[in-house]
Amino acid sequence: MKQIIFIFMSLLCFSCSSKAQNQTADTNVQSDKKILVAYFSCTGTTEKAADAIAKTVGGKLYQITPATAYTSADLDWNNKSSRSSIEMTTENSRPELGGEALNLKDYDMIFLGYPIWWNLCPRPVNTFLEKYDFSGKTVIPFATSGGSSITNSVKQLKKLYPKIVWGESRLLNGSVKQAGEWAKGVI
Ligand SMILES: Cc1cc2nc3c(=O)[nH]c(=O)nc-3n(C[C@H](O)[C@H](O)[C@H](O)COP(=O)(O)O)c2cc1C
Repeated sequence: MKQIIFIFMSLLCFSCSSKAQNQTADTNVQSDKKILVAYFSCTGTTEKAADAIAKTVGGKLYQITPATAYTSADLDWNNKSSRSSIEMTTENSRPELGGEALNLKDYDMIFLGYPIWWNLCPRPVNTFLEKYDFSGKTVIPFATSGGSSITNSVKQLKKLYPKIVWGESRLLNGSVKQAGEWAKGVI
């Protein structure tokens, strides 16, 4: 009787562990491409999407960090004198960046995430794109917003940086699961 119970328990354990492995394989994909997930985020929404993408595709997460962090007063788009309003109405504004230096040679594919500001990408994202040499790299934009689409921001990025190979972009205002699923289909 003891032997039968032991065999039954062993079979049960085996079935549980293989199910767990399958679950991991289902949610995370492995790619031979070296993937960077660079993102700018002030209130955490884009960060959550970036984190889900990095986890799903096995990419390195990198935060685009301004040298001076944005305060909530800086983010007040109703105040035309706020920092973000001044930056967004000044086309050549390129706020200085802080954060760790990046070696782009280590990556083949870059997911680039940002919140939509004034129907564009925030200016620190432009600083980032001009700080490193992205020519010939595939950059895949994604964004979160209060409702605006990503289209206008991408149109402007393509115009400003024609040497970058731009992948198909996506607005990720849904769940983090949706963000991961989308990224899986891209790589
Ligand atoms: C300065 C500023 C400007 C914004 N402009 C827009 C806009 O033009 N269209 C829009 O849909 N949302 C706009 N938003 C809302 C953000 O895109 C949205 O809240 C985003 O998810 C924030 O991302 P984060 O939490 O990663 O910073 C703006 C937010 C800020 C702070």
